[in-house]
Amino acid sequence: MNPRVKPQLRLAFVGCGGIAQSHWQGIQHHASRVQVTAVIDSHPEQARQMAALTGAPPFDCLEAALAADDFDAVDIMLPHHLHEEVALQAFAAGKHVLLEKPMSTTLDSCDRILAAAEAAGTVFMVAEQAEYWPDAVAIRQLIGAGALGELVTASALFGGNTPVPLGSTPRPWRYDLKAAGGGITIDGGAHWIRPLRMWLGEIDEVLATVGHPVAEMEGESLARALFRFQSGVVAGFAAMSAGFEVGPKEEFRITGTLGEIVVYWGGSGRVVFFDRQTPQGRDLPPDLLPHGKNREAAFGLELDDFCHAVLEGRSLAAGPEVSLGELRTGLAMYRSAQTRNWEKVWA
Ligand SMILES: NC(=O)c1ccc[n+]([C@@H]2O[C@H](COP(=O)([O-])OP(=O)(O)OC[C@H]3O[C@@H](n4cnc5c(N)ncnc54)[C@H](O)[C@@H]3O)[C@@H](O)[C@H]2O)c1
Repeated sequence: MNPRVKPQLRLAFVGCGGIAQSHWQGIQHHASRVQVTAVIDSHPEQARQMAALTGAPPFDCLEAALAADDFDAVDIMLPHHLHEEVALQAFAAGKHVLLEKPMSTTLDSCDRILAAAEAAGTVFMVAEQAEYWPDAVAIRQLIGAGALGELVTASALFGGNTPVPLGSTPRPWRYDLKAAGGGITIDGGAHWIRPLRMWLGEIDEVLATVGHPVAEMEGESLARALFRFQSGVVAGFAAMSAGFEVGPKEEFRITGTLGEIVVYWGGSGRVVFFDRQTPQGRDLPPDLLPHGKNREAAFGLELDDFCHAVLEGRSLAAGPEVSLGELRTGLAMYRSAQTRNWEKVWA
C-alpha cells in the first residue's frame, strides 16, 4: 500500500433522517477520512435520498447491509427505543459503533449495550456533539486557566420550538414516551447538560420538576432543575419546548469569584465575559473560539474523533460511560419529579 495514502474508515449510516443530514455535512467538512459505504433506512425514500447524496448503496435493514459487508463501523441514528437492538446486532458482527444520544431509554438497556461493546472489543462512542462546541471548549479552557476564579454557580436554558412540528402525521416517535424514553431533557436538553459537566465536573444529585405544556408530547416538554455537583456547587437547568420560536436567548451563565461568562448563542453566537474591570462586558476574541461561531462543525469533529479512535486507537474525548451522564441526569430528574426529593445521578 502507498504509505502516503491514509486508511479510510468505511462507515454505514443506520437511519437516514434529520440528524443524518448533519452527520453527512460534518463528514464532508471535518472528517475527510470517513467514507460512507452503506446507507440504511426502513423508509425507502429516506435511504434513496441519502444514497443519492453519499453515493453509497441503500439498504432497508442492517441485516441486508451486513450481508453485503462493505463497512467497518456503523453510525446509528434511529429512534431511541431501537438503539439497543441495532447496536447489539452491530457489535455481534464485530463492527465499531457510533450511537446517537441517548445511549438507550433505560439504564438496564445501556448496561446490555456496554456489555456487548466490551465483548466485541470494538470502539464504542455515544455521539454528543456539545463536547466539541466551540463555546463549550473555549469556556472550559478559560475556567482551567483560572479566568473566573473559583466557580460559584451556573445556569443553563434550553428551549424554543418543538423538535418536530406539532400536528405532524404520522405521530412523530419523539412524542411517544415508549419510543423516546422521556421528553425534552434526555433529547435536546442533553446538549445543555454536557457543557455544565465539562465546566463544573460531575453531577452528584438533582432536584427537579417537570411539566407537559405541549399536550401532543407524552414526555415532558418543560423541566426545571437544580444540579448539585460533586464539588458542592449548585447550578440551575431549565428546558422547554414552547411550540413556537422564542426571542434571543441567554443559554448559559457561569459565575466565579473573579468574573462571569454569559453565552447568548442562538443566532448571535456571542460569548461575553464580565468582571470588575469590564462591567459592560467584552466579547470573547474570535481566536478563542475554535471553528469560529459554528456549532455545526461539532458534528464533523465528533465523527473525526470516532474515526481516529478506530483507525489509530486514539482515546475518545468522552468515552461511553461518561456519555451516560446526560441520560442518568435526566432519569434522576424524572425520579425527583415523582419523589420531590434530591435524587442521586450515579447511584
Ligand atoms: N445530536 C443532535 O443534535 C441530535 C439532533 C436530532 C436527533 N438526534 C438523535 O438522532 C437519533 C435519530 O433522530 P432523528 O431526529 O434523526 O430522527 P428521524 O425520525 O428524523 O430519523 C430516524 C430515521 O430512522 C429510520 N428508521 C426508523 N426505524 C428504522 C429501522 N428499524 N431500521 C432502519 N431505519 C429506521 C426512519 O425512517 C428515519 O428516517 C436519535 O437518537 C436522536 O436523539 C441527535
